[in-house]
Amino acid sequence: MKGLLIVSLLAVGILGCQQTPEGSFEPGAIWPDNNGVHINAHGGGMLYKDGVYYWFGEHKIEGKAGNKAHVGVHCYSSEDLYHWQDEGIALEVHEDTSSLLVEGCIIERPKVIYNEKTGKYVMWFHHELKGMGYDAAMTGVAVADDVTGPYTYLRSVNPNAGQWPMNYPDSLRKDTTTMASLERWSDEWRKAVKEGLFVRRDFEKGQMARDMTLFVDTDGTAYHIHSSEENQTLHVSELTDDYLDFTGRYTRVLPGDSNEAPAIFRRGDKYYLIASGCTGWAPNPARSAVADHPFGPWKPLGNPCRGTEEQVNTTFDSQSTFVLPVQGKEDAFIFMADRWRPKNAIDGRYVWLPVEFEEGKPVLKWRDKWNLNVFDKQ
Ligand code: DGJ
Repeated sequence: MKGLLIVSLLAVGILGCQQTPEGSFEPGAIWPDNNGVHINAHGGGMLYKDGVYYWFGEHKIEGKAGNKAHVGVHCYSSEDLYHWQDEGIALEVHEDTSSLLVEGCIIERPKVIYNEKTGKYVMWFHHELKGMGYDAAMTGVAVADDVTGPYTYLRSVNPNAGQWPMNYPDSLRKDTTTMASLERWSDEWRKAVKEGLFVRRDFEKGQMARDMTLFVDTDGTAYHIHSSEENQTLHVSELTDDYLDFTGRYTRVLPGDSNEAPAIFRRGDKYYLIASGCTGWAPNPARSAVADHPFGPWKPLGNPCRGTEEQVNTTFDSQSTFVLPVQGKEDAFIFMADRWRPKNAIDGRYVWLPVEFEEGKPVLKWRDKWNLNVFDKQ
Protein backbone atom coordinates (compact mmCIF):
# COMPACT_ATOMS: atom_id res chain seq x y z
CA MET A 1 0.00 0.00 0.00
CA LYS A 2 2.80 2.34 1.03
CA GLY A 3 4.68 1.37 -2.18
CA LEU A 4 1.61 2.11 -4.30
CA LEU A 5 1.27 5.55 -2.67
CA ILE A 6 4.90 6.39 -3.44
CA VAL A 7 4.50 5.24 -7.09
CA SER A 8 1.30 7.32 -7.41
CA LEU A 9 2.96 10.39 -5.91
CA LEU A 10 5.92 9.98 -8.24
CA ALA A 11 3.60 9.66 -11.25
CA VAL A 12 1.68 12.79 -10.22
CA GLY A 13 4.99 14.58 -9.74
CA ILE A 14 6.31 13.61 -13.17
CA LEU A 15 3.05 14.40 -14.99
CA GLY A 16 2.67 17.61 -13.01
CA CYS A 17 5.83 19.11 -14.48
CA GLN A 18 5.23 17.86 -18.02
CA GLN A 19 2.43 18.27 -20.50
CA THR A 20 -0.42 15.89 -19.66
CA PRO A 21 -0.93 12.83 -21.92
CA GLU A 22 -4.16 14.33 -23.29
CA GLY A 23 -2.41 17.62 -23.75
CA SER A 24 -3.21 21.27 -23.26
CA PHE A 25 -1.60 24.63 -23.91
CA GLU A 26 -0.62 26.91 -21.04
CA PRO A 27 0.38 30.23 -22.59
CA GLY A 28 3.40 31.76 -20.91
CA ALA A 29 4.35 28.65 -18.89
CA ILE A 30 7.50 26.55 -19.28
CA TRP A 31 6.88 24.17 -22.22
CA PRO A 32 9.06 21.07 -21.81
CA ASP A 33 10.08 18.95 -24.79
CA ASN A 34 10.50 15.15 -24.69
CA ASN A 35 13.67 15.63 -22.61
CA GLY A 36 11.94 17.89 -20.08
CA VAL A 37 13.79 20.96 -21.44
CA HIS A 38 11.90 24.20 -22.22
CA ILE A 39 11.39 24.42 -25.99
CA ASN A 40 14.06 26.60 -27.59
CA ALA A 41 12.46 27.82 -30.83
CA HIS A 42 11.70 31.52 -30.57
CA GLY A 43 10.21 33.72 -33.29
CA GLY A 44 9.22 30.46 -34.88
CA GLY A 45 6.97 29.04 -37.53
CA MET A 46 5.33 25.71 -38.26
CA LEU A 47 5.23 23.31 -41.17
CA TYR A 48 2.75 20.42 -41.32
CA LYS A 49 3.92 17.45 -43.37
CA ASP A 50 2.69 13.84 -43.52
CA GLY A 51 0.84 13.89 -40.20
CA VAL A 52 3.55 15.74 -38.26
CA TYR A 53 3.93 19.39 -37.24
CA TYR A 54 7.47 20.77 -37.35
CA TRP A 55 8.33 23.85 -35.28
CA PHE A 56 11.38 25.87 -36.36
CA GLY A 57 12.67 28.77 -34.28
CA GLU A 58 15.62 30.76 -33.02
CA HIS A 59 17.88 28.77 -30.70
CA LYS A 60 18.96 30.86 -27.70
CA ILE A 61 21.81 30.44 -25.24
CA GLU A 62 21.47 30.56 -21.45
CA GLY A 63 22.46 33.94 -20.04
CA LYS A 64 22.77 35.69 -23.42
CA ALA A 65 20.65 38.65 -24.40
CA GLY A 66 19.22 39.50 -27.79
CA ASN A 67 19.11 37.57 -31.03
CA LYS A 68 22.74 36.84 -31.93
CA ALA A 69 22.93 33.37 -33.46
CA HIS A 70 25.47 31.21 -31.64
CA VAL A 71 24.01 27.88 -32.72
CA GLY A 72 21.32 28.25 -35.38
CA VAL A 73 17.72 27.26 -36.01
CA HIS A 74 16.19 24.60 -33.75
CA CYS A 75 13.57 22.10 -34.92
CA TYR A 76 10.95 20.14 -32.93
CA SER A 77 8.27 17.71 -34.12
CA SER A 78 4.83 16.78 -32.82
CA GLU A 79 1.83 14.79 -33.97
CA ASP A 80 -0.64 16.50 -31.64
CA LEU A 81 0.83 20.00 -31.02
CA TYR A 82 1.02 19.27 -27.27
CA HIS A 83 4.02 16.92 -27.07
CA TRP A 84 7.22 18.02 -28.77
CA GLN A 85 10.24 15.98 -29.69
CA ASP A 86 13.63 17.66 -29.99
CA GLU A 87 14.88 17.17 -33.58
CA GLY A 88 18.09 19.14 -33.02
CA ILE A 89 19.57 22.02 -34.99
CA ALA A 90 18.17 22.23 -38.52
CA LEU A 91 20.40 25.10 -39.72
CA GLU A 92 23.77 25.60 -38.08
CA VAL A 93 25.74 28.83 -38.05
CA HIS A 94 29.18 28.58 -39.67
CA GLU A 95 32.58 28.82 -37.99
CA ASP A 96 34.06 30.04 -41.26
CA THR A 97 34.40 33.81 -40.84
CA SER A 98 34.09 34.33 -44.61
CA SER A 99 30.52 33.01 -44.51
CA LEU A 100 27.70 35.50 -44.03
CA LEU A 101 26.13 32.90 -41.73
CA VAL A 102 29.05 33.11 -39.33
CA GLU A 103 28.45 32.56 -35.60
CA GLY A 104 27.47 35.90 -34.05
CA CYS A 105 25.32 37.10 -36.94
CA ILE A 106 21.61 37.58 -36.25
CA ILE A 107 19.05 34.99 -37.32
CA GLU A 108 15.42 35.80 -36.59
CA ARG A 109 11.98 34.40 -37.32
CA PRO A 110 12.93 31.35 -39.45
CA LYS A 111 10.09 29.77 -41.46
CA VAL A 112 10.11 26.57 -43.53
CA ILE A 113 7.88 25.59 -46.45
CA TYR A 114 7.80 22.44 -48.58
CA ASN A 115 8.05 22.67 -52.35
CA GLU A 116 5.86 20.02 -54.04
CA LYS A 117 7.63 20.44 -57.41
CA THR A 118 11.21 19.98 -56.21
CA GLY A 119 10.54 17.86 -53.12
CA LYS A 120 12.82 20.22 -51.15
CA TYR A 121 12.27 21.98 -47.83
CA VAL A 122 13.03 25.69 -48.03
CA MET A 123 13.87 27.86 -45.03
CA TRP A 124 13.86 31.67 -45.11
CA PHE A 125 14.91 33.83 -42.17
CA HIS A 126 15.64 37.43 -41.28
CA HIS A 127 19.43 37.73 -41.44
CA GLU A 128 21.59 40.53 -40.07
CA LEU A 129 25.31 40.46 -40.74
CA LYS A 130 27.80 40.08 -37.92
CA GLY A 131 28.90 43.36 -36.41
CA MET A 132 26.43 45.43 -38.38
CA GLY A 133 23.53 45.65 -35.93
CA TYR A 134 20.28 45.69 -37.88
CA ASP A 135 21.68 47.62 -40.87
CA ALA A 136 21.88 44.81 -43.46
CA ALA A 137 18.13 44.04 -43.26
CA MET A 138 18.50 40.91 -45.38
CA THR A 139 16.61 37.71 -45.82
CA GLY A 140 18.50 34.42 -45.98
CA VAL A 141 17.52 31.15 -47.65
CA ALA A 142 18.57 27.56 -46.98
CA VAL A 143 17.42 24.25 -48.42
CA ALA A 144 17.19 20.64 -47.28
CA ASP A 145 16.14 17.20 -48.55
CA ASP A 146 14.78 16.20 -45.15
CA VAL A 147 12.41 18.34 -43.16
CA THR A 148 14.54 18.30 -40.00
CA GLY A 149 17.66 19.18 -41.98
CA PRO A 150 20.53 19.67 -42.21
CA TYR A 151 19.67 22.81 -44.18
CA THR A 152 22.31 24.12 -46.58
CA TYR A 153 22.64 27.89 -46.52
CA LEU A 154 22.42 29.36 -50.03
CA ARG A 155 22.57 33.16 -49.75
CA SER A 156 21.13 36.31 -48.23
CA VAL A 157 19.64 39.19 -50.17
CA ASN A 158 17.91 42.51 -50.09
CA PRO A 159 14.95 41.44 -52.21
CA ASN A 160 13.54 42.82 -55.44
CA ALA A 161 16.55 44.89 -56.56
CA GLY A 162 15.67 46.97 -59.60
CA GLN A 163 11.93 46.19 -59.35
CA TRP A 164 9.13 48.59 -58.51
CA PRO A 165 6.27 47.41 -56.29
CA MET A 166 3.26 46.53 -58.47
CA ASN A 167 1.09 49.00 -56.58
CA TYR A 168 3.57 51.88 -56.75
CA PRO A 169 2.29 54.61 -59.07
CA ASP A 170 4.41 55.69 -62.03
CA SER A 171 4.00 59.27 -60.90
CA LEU A 172 6.01 58.61 -57.71
CA ARG A 173 8.84 56.65 -59.29
CA LYS A 174 10.65 59.81 -60.36
CA ASP A 175 10.05 61.73 -57.12
CA THR A 176 13.34 63.27 -56.02
CA THR A 177 12.52 63.87 -52.34
CA THR A 178 15.41 62.60 -50.19
CA MET A 179 15.99 61.92 -46.50
CA ALA A 180 18.41 64.82 -46.27
CA SER A 181 15.67 67.36 -46.76
CA LEU A 182 13.37 65.93 -44.05
CA GLU A 183 13.35 65.77 -40.29
CA ARG A 184 12.73 62.18 -39.14
CA TRP A 185 9.20 61.62 -37.77
CA SER A 186 8.00 65.04 -38.97
CA ASP A 187 4.67 65.13 -40.87
CA GLU A 188 6.58 65.75 -44.11
CA TRP A 189 8.83 62.75 -43.41
CA ARG A 190 5.82 60.50 -42.71
CA LYS A 191 4.14 61.64 -45.93
CA ALA A 192 7.32 61.03 -47.92
CA VAL A 193 7.72 57.56 -46.35
CA LYS A 194 4.14 56.68 -47.30
CA GLU A 195 4.92 57.85 -50.80
CA GLY A 196 7.89 55.53 -51.06
CA LEU A 197 10.94 57.53 -49.93
CA PHE A 198 12.77 54.31 -48.92
CA VAL A 199 11.50 52.23 -51.85
CA ARG A 200 13.19 54.69 -54.17
CA ARG A 201 16.33 54.87 -52.00
CA ASP A 202 16.69 51.08 -52.05
CA PHE A 203 15.53 50.48 -55.63
CA GLU A 204 18.98 49.66 -57.06
CA LYS A 205 20.43 47.61 -54.21
CA GLY A 206 17.25 45.80 -53.15
CA GLN A 207 14.66 46.43 -50.46
CA MET A 208 15.07 46.03 -46.70
CA ALA A 209 13.71 42.78 -45.23
CA ARG A 210 13.49 42.43 -41.45
CA ASP A 211 10.69 40.65 -39.50
CA MET A 212 9.33 38.06 -41.90
CA THR A 213 7.00 35.17 -42.50
CA LEU A 214 6.11 32.86 -45.38
CA PHE A 215 2.71 31.94 -46.71
CA VAL A 216 1.87 29.25 -49.29
CA ASP A 217 -1.48 29.70 -50.98
CA THR A 218 -3.74 26.84 -52.09
CA ASP A 219 -2.42 27.13 -55.68
CA GLY A 220 1.14 26.52 -54.44
CA THR A 221 2.30 30.12 -54.87
CA ALA A 222 4.51 31.16 -51.98
CA TYR A 223 4.83 34.67 -50.59
CA HIS A 224 7.57 36.20 -48.46
CA ILE A 225 6.11 38.89 -46.21
CA HIS A 226 8.54 41.20 -44.46
CA SER A 227 8.92 44.53 -42.71
CA SER A 228 10.66 46.84 -45.15
CA GLU A 229 11.34 50.54 -45.65
CA GLU A 230 12.95 51.04 -42.19
CA ASN A 231 10.11 48.96 -40.68
CA GLN A 232 7.54 51.47 -41.88
CA THR A 233 5.87 49.35 -44.57
CA LEU A 234 5.31 45.63 -45.12
CA HIS A 235 6.20 44.10 -48.47
CA VAL A 236 4.47 41.01 -49.83
CA SER A 237 6.78 39.37 -52.37
CA GLU A 238 6.10 36.39 -54.60
CA LEU A 239 8.67 33.58 -54.57
CA THR A 240 9.76 31.64 -57.65
CA ASP A 241 8.30 28.19 -58.38
CA ASP A 242 11.13 26.50 -56.46
CA TYR A 243 10.66 28.95 -53.54
CA LEU A 244 14.40 29.74 -53.62
CA ASP A 245 14.22 33.25 -55.05
CA PHE A 246 12.03 36.30 -55.61
CA THR A 247 10.09 36.73 -58.87
CA GLY A 248 10.25 40.53 -58.62
CA ARG A 249 6.46 40.78 -58.21
CA TYR A 250 5.68 42.50 -54.93
CA THR A 251 3.38 45.03 -53.30
CA ARG A 252 3.65 47.55 -50.50
CA VAL A 253 1.19 46.87 -47.70
CA LEU A 254 -0.18 49.49 -45.29
CA PRO A 255 2.52 52.09 -46.12
CA GLY A 256 3.80 54.02 -43.12
CA ASP A 257 1.89 51.91 -40.56
CA SER A 258 5.06 50.49 -38.86
CA ASN A 259 4.10 46.82 -38.86
CA GLU A 260 6.46 44.14 -37.52
CA ALA A 261 6.08 40.46 -36.72
CA PRO A 262 3.69 39.64 -39.59
CA ALA A 263 1.63 36.44 -39.57
CA ILE A 264 -0.72 35.59 -42.44
CA PHE A 265 -3.43 32.98 -42.84
CA ARG A 266 -6.29 32.18 -45.19
CA ARG A 267 -9.85 31.46 -44.13
CA GLY A 268 -12.21 30.71 -47.02
CA ASP A 269 -11.51 33.32 -49.69
CA LYS A 270 -10.13 35.91 -47.28
CA TYR A 271 -6.54 36.46 -46.19
CA TYR A 272 -5.86 37.78 -42.69
CA LEU A 273 -2.80 39.52 -41.32
CA ILE A 274 -1.89 39.88 -37.66
CA ALA A 275 1.14 42.02 -36.86
CA SER A 276 2.64 44.20 -34.14
CA GLY A 277 3.90 47.72 -33.91
CA CYS A 278 7.63 48.49 -33.64
CA THR A 279 8.81 48.69 -30.03
CA GLY A 280 11.83 46.37 -30.02
CA TRP A 281 11.39 43.59 -27.47
CA ALA A 282 8.67 45.42 -25.54
CA PRO A 283 5.14 44.29 -26.32
CA ASN A 284 2.64 46.63 -27.97
CA PRO A 285 -0.93 46.44 -29.30
CA ALA A 286 -1.41 43.96 -32.16
CA ARG A 287 -3.06 44.95 -35.45
CA SER A 288 -5.06 42.94 -37.96
CA ALA A 289 -6.09 43.38 -41.58
CA VAL A 290 -8.00 41.53 -44.29
CA ALA A 291 -7.56 41.18 -48.06
CA ASP A 292 -8.91 39.23 -51.03
CA HIS A 293 -5.38 38.41 -52.22
CA PRO A 294 -1.98 38.24 -50.49
CA PHE A 295 -0.90 41.21 -52.63
CA GLY A 296 -3.78 43.24 -51.18
CA PRO A 297 -5.20 45.80 -50.99
CA TRP A 298 -5.27 45.19 -47.23
CA LYS A 299 -7.96 46.75 -45.09
CA PRO A 300 -7.07 47.38 -41.42
CA LEU A 301 -9.36 45.62 -38.92
CA GLY A 302 -7.88 47.05 -35.72
CA ASN A 303 -6.53 45.35 -32.62
CA PRO A 304 -7.70 41.71 -32.52
CA CYS A 305 -7.10 41.36 -28.76
CA ARG A 306 -9.95 41.46 -26.26
CA GLY A 307 -9.61 41.58 -22.47
CA THR A 308 -8.21 44.00 -19.91
CA GLU A 309 -6.59 47.23 -21.03
CA GLU A 310 -3.18 45.76 -20.26
CA GLN A 311 -3.88 42.57 -22.23
CA VAL A 312 -5.16 44.54 -25.21
CA ASN A 313 -2.28 47.02 -25.13
CA THR A 314 0.42 44.38 -24.84
CA THR A 315 -1.06 41.53 -26.92
CA PHE A 316 -1.10 39.49 -23.69
CA ASP A 317 2.55 40.45 -23.14
CA SER A 318 3.62 38.91 -26.45
CA GLN A 319 4.37 39.54 -30.12
CA SER A 320 2.98 37.57 -33.07
CA THR A 321 5.14 35.12 -34.97
CA PHE A 322 2.80 32.74 -36.86
CA VAL A 323 -0.78 31.64 -37.34
CA LEU A 324 -1.17 27.90 -37.76
CA PRO A 325 -4.13 26.23 -39.47
CA VAL A 326 -4.95 23.14 -37.35
CA GLN A 327 -5.17 20.02 -39.51
CA GLY A 328 -8.44 18.11 -39.60
CA LYS A 329 -10.51 20.92 -38.14
CA GLU A 330 -12.42 23.47 -40.10
CA ASP A 331 -11.60 27.15 -39.59
CA ALA A 332 -9.28 26.29 -36.72
CA PHE A 333 -6.29 28.61 -36.38
CA ILE A 334 -3.76 29.06 -33.60
CA PHE A 335 -2.22 32.47 -33.01
CA MET A 336 1.40 31.91 -32.00
CA ALA A 337 3.42 34.60 -30.27
CA ASP A 338 6.59 35.17 -28.28
CA ARG A 339 6.81 36.55 -24.78
CA TRP A 340 10.36 37.80 -25.13
CA ARG A 341 12.82 37.75 -22.22
CA PRO A 342 15.50 39.99 -23.74
CA LYS A 343 17.92 39.75 -20.78
CA ASN A 344 17.93 35.95 -20.89
CA ALA A 345 16.49 35.12 -24.29
CA ILE A 346 16.33 31.35 -23.73
CA ASP A 347 13.68 31.95 -21.05
CA GLY A 348 11.33 33.46 -23.66
CA ARG A 349 7.84 31.97 -23.42
CA TYR A 350 5.24 30.97 -25.98
CA VAL A 351 1.75 32.40 -26.06
CA TRP A 352 -0.64 30.38 -28.21
CA LEU A 353 -4.31 31.28 -28.38
CA PRO A 354 -7.18 30.13 -30.60
CA VAL A 355 -8.23 32.63 -33.26
CA GLU A 356 -11.93 33.35 -32.85
CA PHE A 357 -14.00 35.31 -35.34
CA GLU A 358 -16.50 38.04 -34.57
CA GLU A 359 -18.25 39.93 -37.35
CA GLY A 360 -15.66 38.74 -39.86
CA LYS A 361 -12.74 39.91 -37.72
CA PRO A 362 -10.11 37.71 -36.05
CA VAL A 363 -10.35 38.00 -32.27
CA LEU A 364 -7.91 36.84 -29.56
CA LYS A 365 -8.86 36.24 -25.94
CA TRP A 366 -6.66 35.12 -23.09
CA ARG A 367 -6.95 31.55 -21.80
CA ASP A 368 -4.90 30.23 -18.88
CA LYS A 369 -5.12 26.73 -20.26
CA TRP A 370 -6.86 25.31 -23.30
CA ASN A 371 -6.84 22.50 -25.83
CA LEU A 372 -7.91 21.86 -29.40
CA ASN A 373 -11.45 20.97 -28.32
CA VAL A 374 -12.21 24.71 -28.26
CA PHE A 375 -12.42 24.54 -32.03
CA ASP A 376 -15.22 21.97 -31.88
CA LYS A 377 -17.39 24.34 -29.85
CA GLN A 378 -17.21 27.39 -32.11
C1 DGJ B 1 11.20 43.24 -32.75
C2 DGJ B 1 11.24 42.09 -33.68
O1 DGJ B 1 9.94 41.70 -33.94
C3 DGJ B 1 12.04 40.95 -33.11
O2 DGJ B 1 12.04 39.88 -34.00
C4 DGJ B 1 13.39 41.49 -32.83
O3 DGJ B 1 14.00 41.86 -34.02
C5 DGJ B 1 13.35 42.69 -31.93
N1 DGJ B 1 12.52 43.70 -32.52
C6 DGJ B 1 14.71 43.28 -31.70
O4 DGJ B 1 14.59 44.46 -30.97
